[in-house]
Amino acid sequence: MKFFVDTADVAAIRDLHATGLVDGVTTNPSLVGKSGRDFREVIVDICKVTDGPVSAEVIATDEAGMLEQGRALAALAPNVVVKLPLTLDGLKACRKLTSEGTRTNVTLCFSTSQALLAAKAGARFVSPFVGRLDDLAQDGMQLIQEIVEMYANFPNLKTEVLAASIRHPLHVSQSALAGADVATIPYPVMK
Ligand code: G3P
Repeated sequence: MKFFVDTADVAAIRDLHATGLVDGVTTNPSLVGKSGRDFREVIVDICKVTDGPVSAEVIATDEAGMLEQGRALAALAPNVVVKLPLTLDGLKACRKLTSEGTRTNVTLCFSTSQALLAAKAGARFVSPFVGRLDDLAQDGMQLIQEIVEMYANFPNLKTEVLAASIRHPLHVSQSALAGADVATIPYPVMK
């Protein structure tokens, strides 16, 4: 299983990257907001630390806006993955960006049917939110198991299951047991 770091803190990424255990990075607007820095500069800096996939999220909610922002983000570095919300417009943008050769991470996945749609739209990664489901007294890890099982029915599928909203080390090992392709892990949890 690949380890991505879920942060926009470049120093933290550098620190963990030195372990040789980091395969990529995911960010979101809240994480970049915490850094207090310009969004694009942060992404460029992260892409200098790792050549693994770096997810950078659009903030537009309509297809045209997502496409414009997604294309601009993809132009920042070859390893940028455009992160899109799992909405109808997000899926449309996913399909178009994928057909242009841009990798996408379709995020905010809370069900197997949503994961099926993301795969159908050509997402390179789908991000089920384990911790957020646990917060609602649902079983986030069960969703990971079910998506892994569902995708296994279609061996040609390129969509990778990226366990997100990871809160503690047990979520990481359980994701590995479930066969998730990736877990994106906050800095303190990785430490
Ligand atoms: O990976 C998604 C993540 O950034 C959200 O995590 O802990 O706020 O649910 P959390």
